Amino acid sequence: MADQQLSQLSVNDDDDVVDPWNVAGKSETGIDYDKLIKRFGSSKIDEELISRFEKVTGHKAHHLLKRGVFFSHRDMHSILNLHEAGKKFYLYTGRGPSSESMHLGHMIPFMFTKWLQDVFNVPLIIQLTDDEKALWRDIKIEDARQMAYNNAKDIIAIGFDLKNTFIFNDLDFIGQCPAFYQNMIRIQKCVTYNQVKGIFGFGDSDVIGKITFPSIEAAPAFSTSFPFIFDNKVLPCLVPCAIDQDPYFRMTRDVAARLKMPKPSLIHSSFLPALQGAQHKMSASDPNASIFLNDTPKQIKNKINKYAFSGGQATVEEHREKGGNTEVDISYKYLSFFLEDDDRLAEIKKQYESGQLLTGELKKIAIDTITPYIQQYQARRAAVSDDVMRRYFQLRKLDC
Ligand code: TYM
Repeated sequence: MADQQLSQLSVNDDDDVVDPWNVAGKSETGIDYDKLIKRFGSSKIDEELISRFEKVTGHKAHHLLKRGVFFSHRDMHSILNLHEAGKKFYLYTGRGPSSESMHLGHMIPFMFTKWLQDVFNVPLIIQLTDDEKALWRDIKIEDARQMAYNNAKDIIAIGFDLKNTFIFNDLDFIGQCPAFYQNMIRIQKCVTYNQVKGIFGFGDSDVIGKITFPSIEAAPAFSTSFPFIFDNKVLPCLVPCAIDQDPYFRMTRDVAARLKMPKPSLIHSSFLPALQGAQHKMSASDPNASIFLNDTPKQIKNKINKYAFSGGQATVEEHREKGGNTEVDISYKYLSFFLEDDDRLAEIKKQYESGQLLTGELKKIAIDTITPYIQQYQARRAAVSDDVMRRYFQLRKLDC
């Protein structure tokens, strides 16, 4: 295969930056997702796909799908075809544990993955890339492993069914599973240094672990990496994730064709924005830009009141006259991710845009929506003991 054929994209100066490490939009309304679909070569999730989703599964579309938060896909129709024909596939997603607690943005792909697991009744594999974080950040191996365990508990508290869910952290698991390592090497044999540089932008001073890491995120997309679950059967895979992870899976899909394995399908979400504005995604590296799942009600209130970028006008008079801008308002954006009631959301939009609702009032609605959501989550998280966690990590057959 010629080097340049493998998943490399050209980037222009006016393009938004979206890769696994950086997200930076050029406009205050955020990332231009339609442009991103064109650049990445994925497909837009349209009304037709959503109706087909509902028809094939017999379930009403999740609000994140209906509202276009999940906006892009690769080969989602093949997954619906399989389900329609009564054939199995599996779900694979992951987390790079870089903080003691996950933040609200990480909830988006995981919440949606839980819904997919419930709707399709299929096995789910969750990879914790503690190796990735030890390689990229100034984090000791021991600390990265500990963060993986903490984040595993964060993930379990979302409500994944133990019978159908296997969770692993790379630093412990890869040494226990020769089939996984063998697939990593198969993948590594298909990708040159030149190609990996082109896809991920690695440079001459990057440590060699980074160069091989993409094979580790790719390997779980092949069912033969998990013989204890799938008995060496070849099963197609669907990966839900935010679109920043797509470079890994563009590479995986190219490699799959060469290994004569099914290409993983993907369903991509947009980003829950940082408190300071829609140009950036919420990210664990900036505590003031993020609401963490272990924040207290007081912290949530303070962060939203102090930092959430407002689309309101400079004075009350001006706001009453011109109305607020929901395209850039972060409190409104958070509501569009977390407030499930469509009618209430539409009413809030109307009232804010007409100037009837002021910024402080909108912030209060966001605080009153997010705080109980996180408190209920924290109660579930407190119930996840080490023992419960160990059961998800056990190498075992899954039910379906
Ligand atoms: P990580 O830990 O950066 O992110 C975990 C998951 O959350 C998504 N995400 C977001 N989604 C919405 N809004 C945000 N602000 C936001 N920030 C992050 C990410 O896209 C991801 O889906 N290398 C990966 C871990 C990984 C993985 C995977 C992810 C391993 N295998 C397979 C997805 C699918 C990482 O560091 O994710």
